[in-house]
Amino acid sequence: TGDTLPLKSHVSFPLGVCAMTAQVNDPQWASLIATHFDRITPEWEMKMEYILQPDGSLRFDAPDRIVAQARLNGQSVLGHTLIWYAQDGDYFQQLKADRRDFETAYRTYIRQVMSHYKGQVDGWDVVNEAIRDDGSDLRDCLWREVLGEAYIDIAYRAAHEADPACPLILNDYNLEYYPAKRKRFLKLVEGLQKRGVPLNVLGTQTHIAADLSKGAITETLRDLAATGLKIHLSELDVSLKEAAKNALDFRNYRDAQRALYEEVAEAYTALPTAQQFGLTLWGLRDEDSWYNRQNKGMVADEPLLFDDAGRLKPVGQAFVKAL
Ligand code: G3I
Repeated sequence: TGDTLPLKSHVSFPLGVCAMTAQVNDPQWASLIATHFDRITPEWEMKMEYILQPDGSLRFDAPDRIVAQARLNGQSVLGHTLIWYAQDGDYFQQLKADRRDFETAYRTYIRQVMSHYKGQVDGWDVVNEAIRDDGSDLRDCLWREVLGEAYIDIAYRAAHEADPACPLILNDYNLEYYPAKRKRFLKLVEGLQKRGVPLNVLGTQTHIAADLSKGAITETLRDLAATGLKIHLSELDVSLKEAAKNALDFRNYRDAQRALYEEVAEAYTALPTAQQFGLTLWGLRDEDSWYNRQNKGMVADEPLLFDDAGRLKPVGQAFVKAL
């Protein structure tokens, strides 16, 4: 597989991978990452679950470690994520009775985290996963409960004030699986743009399974690119286990998985260069995948490009050839 390495040399846009402190401290992993990728997204240490303490204080030791290592390797870093329905912290829960205090704390959190990484990141996922899975509306969450739908506008405006040069990203998932969700996502984007809310990049996570219909990725990227904003394919993996639930036979999965990785490569590289914000894999080796970490002992999944020995798998070679 020597002729297909390093991966980043095959593309003209940033090729990223998610990373966590434990991996950054693992020499084999760190050298593979430095060889193949030129951008890192902290998998969880730049989120509220790590940074924000119950008393409202902030800790940055782990994400600073990731940023320092990336700088040593000449890699850029993406901030992920400031405001997410899934993590609102005890601190904010305690404040929700008083809207003014809540909003002040909300803006302060965004400003303090953005300021801490000012000039050190290529962009921030300011709001993550704002749309309901069925595409019927914005998702219910603490932020919307207290601040209303304006929680999104407030977040992007606060982020822009903190670091005007930082590209601001709106990130979501299943935009390729559910056209209704993609439609509602694009309606949110249209509203933000109409209101002059600072937004530069659309992130489509692309956690897909081997049963995703052919062409869905291509159609999704085309719809997102029609906004004129840059596109970040932000959390790519192609699960075999998820497809197993839909009773496709395993041999077919591998063919389907390869075809999907090829479609992603072709569809993304077909975007106008000016809109190619980058492509990020959600993990390096199969063992690193969140799918395998969260289901210890369940059916192992093989969603990524590298095997557990750090070798590029056949599906990885097919992906590279299609880039
Ligand atoms: O490793 C620590 C351990 O030291 C600590 O004792 C333990 C208790 O807090 O936490 C462990 O960290 C866990 C981390 O994954 C590493 O395994 C965190 O609890 C856990 O919350 C974290 O889960 C991450 C999850 O987002 C929530 O932040 C996953 O790694 C990460 O893959 C997943 O990524 C999300 C994206 O942010 C958004 N899109 C969906 C994607 C998959 O769910």
